[in-house]
Amino acid sequence: MRRSKKFKSPSPHPPPTRGGGDYIDPQEEGSLPPSPSLKGRGMGGGSIKGFFERFYKVKKTLSLVFVDIDPKTYNISPEEIEKRITPQTKAIIPVHFTGQPCDLDPIHKIACRHNLMIIEDAAHALGAAYKGRPVGGLSDLTIFSFHPVKHITTGEGGIVTINNKELYQRLLLFRNHGIVRERELLMEDQGPWYYEVQDLGYNYRLTDIQAVLGLSQLKKLDRFLARRRQIAAMYNEAFTNNLPEVEVPYQAPYADSSWHLYILTLRLDRLQKSRREIFAALRAENIGVHVHYLPVYRHPFYRRLLDSGSFNPKDFFCPNAEEIYQKIITLSLFPAMTDQDVADVITAVYKVISWATGVANFKKLPARIR
Ligand SMILES: Cc1ncc(COP(=O)(O)O)c(C=O)c1O
Repeated sequence: MRRSKKFKSPSPHPPPTRGGGDYIDPQEEGSLPPSPSLKGRGMGGGSIKGFFERFYKVKKTLSLVFVDIDPKTYNISPEEIEKRITPQTKAIIPVHFTGQPCDLDPIHKIACRHNLMIIEDAAHALGAAYKGRPVGGLSDLTIFSFHPVKHITTGEGGIVTINNKELYQRLLLFRNHGIVRERELLMEDQGPWYYEVQDLGYNYRLTDIQAVLGLSQLKKLDRFLARRRQIAAMYNEAFTNNLPEVEVPYQAPYADSSWHLYILTLRLDRLQKSRREIFAALRAENIGVHVHYLPVYRHPFYRRLLDSGSFNPKDFFCPNAEEIYQKIITLSLFPAMTDQDVADVITAVYKVISWATGVANFKKLPARIR
């Protein structure tokens, strides 16, 4: 869309619809800050005068602190957030990892206490709900990705849902070169051709073609979600109780996951093979396993940031994330999988775990799979 339509809710505080803030801003990228969202908050932005200075100031002053995860949900831990807040903290960016919503109530309380903004990274969580409320209308900003591996796709891109009109308008500017065309918002009016660049902005526009694809994908979302949940349930049924060498993903009582990823945790103390060997054996069975994720700060870019001396190593290190990274494996989970595909994955997991324990677990295979 060259210029987004404003989807204003009919009443001031309606119950949120799926993925719904009061405003939807289609963006070329679902990526997180430091791009549109922090800028939208006013950490940058503002009037035309001096915008370059402000932009560079923001780039210089915004700092990055990682917060460790909860060892059960693998989502950001509210207690750990509290420990890492300083007077400089501006925003909390919880990621709804795998599609399971973070525990948002305590996070909101912390944000209120410290006057912080919340930007939810819901790249995995389209269609998820927290305490029965759909992700997308719960915080200041929520960001969804429509990359092809996500619940629905626009080829690339995503949307931001926003509960605040001022933020929404800032993001519109940021998305489109800071250009204002509305007559009533111009600082002067030199004629019908006239528009103004009122802030520093970029091209974060989703194309019309992508938007049309997104609308057609949206019609299939319920079906996609239902199938994802079905597949997750099949995995849970196959692995819970029967295979003590692995743990199925813990689901918190407040969370209704949209199951973007299904992560098995290996109990390495019960296995005679390493995660790497088990991973390779599953790949050799033609199963598309992955590992999500390396702790972000271990990537070379973040290491360089640390090496540059401008960040405190204590603000990066997350022991729980480190430990969990060593023992997780992601199984295939996408709506086009047939029941036979799912059964093949389950069989391969049993086979490889049997091999890794030195015990034949095939007799434990659920009858439906055998
Ligand atoms: C948790 C999370 N956040 C953000 C993104 C970035 O999304 P995009 O590639 O649409 O910018 C991804 C991409 O996979 C993701 O997994």
